[in-house]
Amino acid sequence: MNAILVGLQWGDEGKGKVIDFLCRDKDVIVRFQGGNNAGHTVVIDGKKFIFHLIPSGILRKDKICVIGNGVVVDPKVLIEEIEVLKKSGIKVSPENLKISLFAHVIMPYHRIMDTLREKNRSQKIGTTMRGIGPCYVDKAARCGIRMADLVDIDSFSRRLKDNLEEKNLILEKAYQAQVFSFDAILKEYQVFAKMLTPYVCDITDLLYPKKNKSFLFEGAQGTFLDVDFGTYPFVTSSATVSSNALLGSGLSFIKINEILGVAKAYTTRVGEGPFPTELTDDMGGYFQKKGKEFGATTGRPRRCGWLDLVILRRARILNNVNKIILTKLDILDDLKEIKVCTAYKQNGKLLKNFPLDLSAVTPVYETLKGWRRKTEDIRSYSGLPAEAKKYIAKIEKFLDCKVSYVSVGEMREAIIKK
Ligand code: GDP
Ligand code: IMO
Ligand code: MG
Repeated sequence: MNAILVGLQWGDEGKGKVIDFLCRDKDVIVRFQGGNNAGHTVVIDGKKFIFHLIPSGILRKDKICVIGNGVVVDPKVLIEEIEVLKKSGIKVSPENLKISLFAHVIMPYHRIMDTLREKNRSQKIGTTMRGIGPCYVDKAARCGIRMADLVDIDSFSRRLKDNLEEKNLILEKAYQAQVFSFDAILKEYQVFAKMLTPYVCDITDLLYPKKNKSFLFEGAQGTFLDVDFGTYPFVTSSATVSSNALLGSGLSFIKINEILGVAKAYTTRVGEGPFPTELTDDMGGYFQKKGKEFGATTGRPRRCGWLDLVILRRARILNNVNKIILTKLDILDDLKEIKVCTAYKQNGKLLKNFPLDLSAVTPVYETLKGWRRKTEDIRSYSGLPAEAKKYIAKIEKFLDCKVSYVSVGEMREAIIKK
C-alpha cells in the first residue's frame, strides 16, 4: 500500500505526528520537496522530536528514510539533526537514511539572499529565512549545487567559484552587503561533505517499486503554500501538492493506494498572506495558547482562525485526497460554539467559484455546538462526544471525503481510527 500524505491548509497541520503513526506498516518514507523551512513534530513518551529534513519515519526501526531530489538540503542543519537524533539513541546511518545525489544544496549566500530580498520587498512574504527560495531559484537557473557536487571537491569548487562571481557582485552592487570568501565556504562545506558522503547515493534503484515494498511520501508545508496553487506570492518555492511526490523522488507512475490529507480542526498560518477566517481577537489568542501555535522552525507565533471548509474542499480536489486525517480536535474541547466557514462573500455577493485573491473575501460562517468534554484520552470513535462526531460529519459532507483518523493530542498514541 503506497500513500502520499500532504497538508491541506498552510502547513503545521500535524503531518509529523501522523507520519510517525502511519509509517508503522510502510517500508520507505520519502521527503519529496521543501527543506528546513519545515518543522515536523513527533512527541513520544513526553519527548519532543522536531524534524526539518529527515523524514519523521526515522524513529521507527527497520524503515528506510529518503531525502528525495525535490528537497533542498542545508547540510549544516541536516548534520545537526542527525547528531541530535543519535544522541537520543535513534539509529541514523547510511543504512536507514539515503540522500539523493540530485537534491540541491543550500549555500550561505542563499540564506543571505533570502533575508535581503525579504527586507527589500514592499510586500513581505514572511519567509523562514532559511534560503529555500533562492536555492530553488538557482536550481531552475541551472547554477545550483547538488549533493553530487558537494561530495566531489572538483565539481564543488568549480560551481562555487562560478556562483560566487555572480552572487558577490549582486551582494555588493545591488545590496551593498558583505561578500563571501571562496576559501571559507570551501573549507566549511568540505567538512559537511565528509560527514554526509556515506548517505548520498543514487536512490533510483532503491525506489524502484517491488512487490511487498510500500512507500509513504511525506509532504512538507501545505496546499496553500504551493508555488502554483497556493496564495501566490505568499507561498513557498516548491510544489506541495500530492502530484509532486513522484517527481520529487524520481519515481514514475506507481500505484498510489491512498492520498491522505491532513487538516487541523481549525486553521493556522505563519508568515504573511491572506487568511479569510483569521481571528485577531481573543479567540485567535485562545487557539494560539491552547494549541501551542508557535512555529516549530522559527518559533514565530502562528496566526489562528476558524476552520475554513472552502479552502479544504479546494485542497481535497487539488490533491485528489481520498482520506482525511483531522488533527487537534482536542483544542476545540472547551468551546461552547464552533464556527466553520462554508462560503465566501465578495462585495456583498456569495461567490460560486474559488477566488483568485483570498484577501478580497469575507467568510460566511455556520455555527455548530461544541461538546465541552475532554477528548484527549478517548481512543475509540464511538467514545467521542456526539457534537464532535457532528463536527466531523460536517467536514466529511462538505468535502465529500471520509475522515479516517482523528488526532486528539500531541502524544503518539492520541489518535482515533474512524
Ligand atoms: P507539521 O509541520 O504539519 O508536522 O506540524 P507541526 O509539528 O509544525 O505542528 C503541529 C503541532 O501540533 C505539534 O506541536 C504537534 O506536537 C501538535 N499536535 C499534532 N497533533 C495534535 C493533536 O491532535 N492535538 C494536540 N493538542 N497537538 C497536536
Ligand atoms: P511545515 O512542513 C508553515 C511559510 C513561511 C512563509 C512562506 C515562505 O512545518 O508545515 P519559505 O521559507 O518557505 O520561503 O517561506 O511559507 N512556511 C511554512 N509555514 N509550515 C511550514 O512547514 C512552512 N514552510 C514554509 O512561514 O510564510
Ligand atoms: Mg510544521
